[in-house]
Amino acid sequence: MPESQRPAPAEAPPLRSASEAERLVQFAKSQPLADGGLQTAQLLSQALDLDPHHHEAQILQERLHQTFVPRWHFPMLADAARNAAYARAITAKVRPGDIVLDIGCGAGLTAMLAARAGAKHVYTCEQQPLIAQAAARVIADNGLSDRITVICKWSHDIVVGVDLPEPADVVISEIVDTVLLGEGALATLTHAMSALAKPEARTIPERGRLVAQPVESNALLDLWRPQQAEGFDLSAFHHLARVAQLPPSDFEACALRPLGPTTELFEFDFARPNINRARTTADLTCSDTGTVHAVLASFEMELAPGVTVANDIDSGGHWGRTAFLLDQPTPVQPGDRAKVIAQHDAAQLSLSVREISAPAKEARSPIVWMNPAWVAPAAARQADLPSPLIEAEAVWARADSAVLQPAVQSNP
Ligand SMILES: C[S@@+](CC[C@H](N)C(=O)[O-])C[C@H]1O[C@@H](n2cnc3c(N)ncnc32)[C@H](O)[C@@H]1O
Repeated sequence: MPESQRPAPAEAPPLRSASEAERLVQFAKSQPLADGGLQTAQLLSQALDLDPHHHEAQILQERLHQTFVPRWHFPMLADAARNAAYARAITAKVRPGDIVLDIGCGAGLTAMLAARAGAKHVYTCEQQPLIAQAAARVIADNGLSDRITVICKWSHDIVVGVDLPEPADVVISEIVDTVLLGEGALATLTHAMSALAKPEARTIPERGRLVAQPVESNALLDLWRPQQAEGFDLSAFHHLARVAQLPPSDFEACALRPLGPTTELFEFDFARPNINRARTTADLTCSDTGTVHAVLASFEMELAPGVTVANDIDSGGHWGRTAFLLDQPTPVQPGDRAKVIAQHDAAQLSLSVREISAPAKEARSPIVWMNPAWVAPAAARQADLPSPLIEAEAVWARADSAVLQPAVQSNP
């Protein structure tokens, strides 16, 4: 091949660029990450500008992004039903001239929706610096930098008169996990509504409900409680998985069959939230014949009158699901009931499901939480908190039986 037709060795940067890139990568590795990875990210992207194929810089940059930018941001932004619901609610509730506080900027979507709805100014806070930095770019790309201020802080560090010129007329947030509370929404909104908002401020969302429902799914057990592998009995391992966390793909694959309607466990008023712990007892009813393998917990949020988002059994979307596995699958028929005891605190909801005979269980039910406690905000707001901690006990009772009897059978 003649010299002139050979492909240029485009991959290799000039020697000086390559060594400068290498120097920047080594320097990036020595940076502390206390700034949320901001400085490290900047050095790595400078290195990649000089040498776009620097292997270590690529790996470190990806690791940094995975560490500081939870991966659920991307399917969340692709969740068209969620986005449309927020757009409708924000259009309905934000009025021209409003000062809006958007808690948890993410990529800036809800802030931009508020600006588009006519807010005088939107103040949007984001605790993660890399996310806040990228959001400011998104907002600039959409020509909204003069209407939206990104504040790189936790909402509880915001000060009226310093970060916000006056208390907000509207507080927008989307800081809920699969069972509403895991991202610290109650603690965050309790603070925001008292310290950062006008007394009659509007909120999006307005209310949230947590519900429970008995479900059947052999696939769920196969996934979370495999009986054996290569001929070995694994059942002694099962107690380590009492709560199944199902990403949307697993949820779809498990094809949960509802054996009864949803029953409300808790309702939350996000305009007047509190961080008090609570405990409730609810009767789940069965309307179908089958085998209960788990109790599914899900939520419904009312963003504005008539505008809701949910992660119940019929909803699609990006939210995962939380299923509390029964120790023993339990056959039921229409009219059977399950008594569920659920508890939550400011940021956590955890659940365990046990089959206990009704009289013994009723006698042993401990009494409620006595002292409300504030959950450390930083811990409460971590997006990747472990699964909720609900204490729940299920007692299955035949509808036609005077005495509650647990119906028990072995795992299939
Ligand atoms: C689920 S995302 C929602 C983003 C955007 N509002 C939307 O709906 O597309 C929540 C974001 O809020 C941030 N966040 C959660 N609680 C916060 C708080 N109290 N103060 C500041 N940022 C918070 C998280 O880091 C995350 O980036």
